[in-house]
Amino acid sequence: MLAERAGVTLTRRKDTAADKIADRLYDINEAAAEYYHNMLLKAPDAESARDYIKKRGLDGNIINDFRLGYSPGEGLKKHLLDKGFREDELLALGLLGERDGRIYDYFRHRLMFPIRDIKGRVVGFGARALDDAVPKYLNSPQTAVFDKSGILYGIDRAKGAIRERGLAVIVEGYMDVITAHQFGEANVVASMGTALTEKQMRILKGLTKRVAFALDPDVAGDAATMRGIEVARRSLDREELEMPTVLGATTRLRADISIIPLPQGKDPDVVIRDDPKKWQQLVEQSTPLMDHLIGVVVSTLDISRPEGKSTAIEQLLPLIAELENETQREFYLNR
Ligand code: UTP
Ligand code: MN
Repeated sequence: MLAERAGVTLTRRKDTAADKIADRLYDINEAAAEYYHNMLLKAPDAESARDYIKKRGLDGNIINDFRLGYSPGEGLKKHLLDKGFREDELLALGLLGERDGRIYDYFRHRLMFPIRDIKGRVVGFGARALDDAVPKYLNSPQTAVFDKSGILYGIDRAKGAIRERGLAVIVEGYMDVITAHQFGEANVVASMGTALTEKQMRILKGLTKRVAFALDPDVAGDAATMRGIEVARRSLDREELEMPTVLGATTRLRADISIIPLPQGKDPDVVIRDDPKKWQQLVEQSTPLMDHLIGVVVSTLDISRPEGKSTAIEQLLPLIAELENETQREFYLNR
């Protein structure tokens, strides 16, 4: 409207050749998700999958909302070719695989989790074994539309709640997200088993500055986890300062990151199902990042000795220097 008023001609950006190809790939993935979903609901040989989801306590609404599915041994290829899609496209999306010149359905006899981007487009799949088969989860390979490190599972359904509550809770697994949403905890997304990446943080940044990690106490201090936390710390909104603060930092952290300590060995899936109230409590009482970091650093040192104390200070001071709030800085300096 404004362009018209100002006499400017706008051209449509959408119709580039690359966009058209990508749209078609999303359409194919969507068709595959629907196929798997119908299989789960109706196929006679999906009985074991239906038993499995019953055993895991997933209700019909959540299966529908998340479009969970079942991949039979074969049938997807024919279904999608009949719909007019091409074999090379299905191969490129990782829906089909190729071995010794034979082409086969890539996902077989697994519970299917369509993975969507923030706009709700199906970019790939996670696929859980129904027994002890390895890998437990088989994921889509890297494709033109799927980059596992740049996706948060559940973000399409969580974004509203994250905005409303002003908090994103990050868990590891598909199952954790689904159970959380089933119990009304809709601000939960999963990093899909890896340490959080910059790309994932960038997605959240558009929604909130408050992020809480649900971590198993086993891993809460381990190296990979600490790297993920470091990524979160570095990539959440920062205010560039013109003048270094007295402590020498040139940026100040404006984000609010906290750690939700989970009972030993329990996934959020289990905690929420056992007692949703308990989960809400854990989220509310989450440990501010700085307290967590102090705990992790101190646990590796003997701070009753001068060397231990100075190492702790060396490691913690730069982090404290980045805190935006002066009262908080003083508080942690004293600590
Ligand atoms: P978990 O092993 O904790 O799985 O891995 P989970 O989600 O709790 O599943 P259940 O409860 O055993 O059914 C956490 C996440 O790591 C990724 C998946 O995204 C999984 O949800 N993962 C795990 C893989 O990609 N491949 C694997 O083989 C295992
Ligand atoms: Mn689990």
